[in-house]
Amino acid sequence: ERLRAARVPEPGDDLAAGLAACRRCPLWENATQPVPGEGPLNAPLMIVGEQPGDLEDLEGRPFVGPAGQLFDEVAARAGLDRARAYVTNAVKHFKFAARGKRRIHQSPTQGEIQHCRWWLDLERAQVKPRLILAMGATALDSLTGDRRGLLTRRGGVEQTAEGTPVLVTVHPSYLLRLPAIERAAAEAAFEADLRRAAEILG
Ligand code: URA
Repeated sequence: ERLRAARVPEPGDDLAAGLAACRRCPLWENATQPVPGEGPLNAPLMIVGEQPGDLEDLEGRPFVGPAGQLFDEVAARAGLDRARAYVTNAVKHFKFAARGKRRIHQSPTQGEIQHCRWWLDLERAQVKPRLILAMGATALDSLTGDRRGLLTRRGGVEQTAEGTPVLVTVHPSYLLRLPAIERAAAEAAFEADLRRAAEILG
């Protein structure tokens, strides 16, 4: 809270340069680089995920790995144009545990989400989206302060503290982890959520 109070983000701030120097939490130490959001600064839609994955960490761009590919496929079916959206994450550095040559994703802690919310707040202040799509519990937590009951809240529209509408949905990585028998229905529900986002934006 002391850090959050130190300086209020301003729309002109250079996000990428600031992020590269970020020491608000220790996640920068092991990551290759921070991954800032990407997309038009006047985008009507902001899409928020959890944190960069292995490929995103190496490339420095959000949602370029398997979860991003699934998102792109379902979004295309739902009529949601990713090129018109600002795509970002609640946490900007990849958090992982090294297992030999593999880097295994680890969920960010509450403290890491809170520290990194400074950056998400800055992105929201710059982009001023009409709608935010929160994908998964970490995004929902960062945007609304409450991560509980994702599967009962999904498909609904909530609000940030500033009153920006937040459409709640699951994270595409969740779909990738589901057993085959559950996958089709879960993917259809995700598609319906993305279609709702497209409809709200008109
Ligand atoms: N998962 C996320 O939440 N964000 C990414 O950028 C990639 C995978």
